Amino acid sequence: MKRVAILISGGGSNMVRLLDSMDGDHPARAVLVGSNDPAAGGLAKAAGRGIATFAIDHRAHASRAAFEAALLEPLLEVQPDIICLAGFMRILTPDFVRRFDGRMLNIHPSLLPKYPGLHTHARAIEAGDTQAGATVHEVTADLDAGPILGQARVPVLVGDTADTLAARVLVQEHRLYPAVLRRFAAGDRTPVIL
Ligand code: GRF
Repeated sequence: MKRVAILISGGGSNMVRLLDSMDGDHPARAVLVGSNDPAAGGLAKAAGRGIATFAIDHRAHASRAAFEAALLEPLLEVQPDIICLAGFMRILTPDFVRRFDGRMLNIHPSLLPKYPGLHTHARAIEAGDTQAGATVHEVTADLDAGPILGQARVPVLVGDTADTLAARVLVQEHRLYPAVLRRFAAGDRTPVIL
């Protein structure tokens, strides 16, 4: 049974879908949910599902390295086989990423390699794209650039705003991430294409 830790920064809607997917004959179980923001709404959702939680406030640490040293402690305690970044909004240093090389996943709200970084939906609309979507990828030292493990596409509709597009993409994120995690936890890296 693979042990999964999930890192969030906000409401954790993707985290909830991941937690709820890990049951029955699923090859993984969640062992911990952490956040860089003690006020992250997702922490209460995880606790309500009986999952241990922690928060390390990145604003309480003078450097990125100090924050990551603190973040590492609870993670090393539970010895996760897989880490899922789910709406986690801090950039992790190569040192931290290397510790979990090949077993840390992230979901990004664009069809990578298009639009790494922020404001992905506004950029897709601005560019006149007719399609958008989400990508789950392995986390590597380069931001939003690791091997792709899954993608889900949605149409960009006339009149879309960043918010309406984000809402359409989020529905697919909630389908994509659990499907990718289940396959990844079974040792299969074949991309999930929805
Ligand atoms: C989602 O758009 C996800 O792609 C991005 O953060 C947003 C919120 O995620 N990484 P969640 O609701 O906190 O899971």
